[in-house]
Amino acid sequence: MKVLLIGSGGREHALAAALNRDPKLEELHVAPGNPGIAEIALCHELDIKDNNAIVSLAQKLSVDLVVIGPEVPLVNGVADELAKAKIPCFGPSKAAAQLEGSKDFAKKVMSDAGVPTAKSFTCTNKVEIEKALDTFGAPYVVKHDGLAAGKGVVVTDDRDFAIEHALQSPQVVIEEYLDGPEVSLFGISDGHHVIAMQPAQDFKRVGDGDLGPNTGGMGAYSPLPWAPDEIVEETLTQVLNPTVKEMSARNTPFVGLLYAGLALTSRGTRVIEFNARFGDPETQVLLPRLRTPLAQLLLAAATGKLKDFGPLDWSDDAAVTVVLASDGYPAAPIVGEPITGIKPNDHSFVFHAGTSLRDGVLHSAGGRVLTVTGIGSDLTEARDSAYRTISQISLAGSHYRSDIALNASVAEKGN
Ligand code: AMP
Ligand code: GLY
Repeated sequence: MKVLLIGSGGREHALAAALNRDPKLEELHVAPGNPGIAEIALCHELDIKDNNAIVSLAQKLSVDLVVIGPEVPLVNGVADELAKAKIPCFGPSKAAAQLEGSKDFAKKVMSDAGVPTAKSFTCTNKVEIEKALDTFGAPYVVKHDGLAAGKGVVVTDDRDFAIEHALQSPQVVIEEYLDGPEVSLFGISDGHHVIAMQPAQDFKRVGDGDLGPNTGGMGAYSPLPWAPDEIVEETLTQVLNPTVKEMSARNTPFVGLLYAGLALTSRGTRVIEFNARFGDPETQVLLPRLRTPLAQLLLAAATGKLKDFGPLDWSDDAAVTVVLASDGYPAAPIVGEPITGIKPNDHSFVFHAGTSLRDGVLHSAGGRVLTVTGIGSDLTEARDSAYRTISQISLAGSHYRSDIALNASVAEKGN
């Protein structure tokens, strides 16, 4: 099988590594890729916003499957263009990608499908905004309606700041605050049938102890020893299946990765958000543990054949992923600094995100630079592996959280 993967982050490096392990994979192409991905796949230059360029490359390479990593090409409708060219694509159509592209759309689908989520109002002016904020009270949760690269959501006790953030977007969703731990749970969907992956937890704040601003994600771990056993089954029956059924009933079937961001509140599980693609860095923590051949799984989803696929096979290991970020990330990352000391071993992987090669020397080229995943028999061992590898890497001014999976590993030992 020949596969073309679109994207250039840590998520795509982990996807590429997992696709490569599939015995049926013959050729792996990635566009645009990054220096880490180039070590394990054939990389091609590409503007991921150019749908025609993606279709042309897939045709030129005669691939059997295109896998779309990031949300932007999906919201731009690349899956529709690939469908016209009769090329199987793992990733939803433009209409179905609105589950990520518009918070208001996602709320309407959840309401029609009976999926539990925070109560909300969609507002387009100051009067509506103030009324919605005062209905729910603090902490205020304000979300810009469209794609915002992680910058659209504000959770704050400051009413004036909430109003100011709301007024920056023509349409916002204001919703009730959900307490309780957050869990990311991914469903692989062929439009009708869904297979759930194992849950992971993502650390969104930049600093230890969940302090500082939100980021794209600073680390993750899986499995979650503290999570209720029934979380996967419950999310499948209450969230993933009804959403996929509703999208199919609307004649916009969702084919691809349905990412449910969940809050486990005292009143039950609630959906915080949907994404229409693999999460980053959850993918880097999940895929090293997946034994099921990934290329075959994603092709089955892209061609409507998941029903006969069977359950996923996971290793019993635990995994912890820690993100190495540039100086100044997330506000104003400083890039272009040399990176040395990358020494993965049998128990750790280093996935490249924002890196580039200059005269043969690896440099930082983005806010999130590398993601290091450690594997072990439990979270403590996995943490040790990840932190041993990340601590050997030198990048001026870089930072990473030191508490990824720390509480869970302490609790695990107590059991
Ligand atoms: P989102 O982009 O919708 O996932 O929001 C980003 C982050 O904001 C989430 O991961 C949560 O930490 C937080 N958040 C979003 N919605 C809520 C909510 N209703 N209650 C509490 N926190 C929220
Ligand atoms: N880990 C959060 C995201 O991928 O959106």
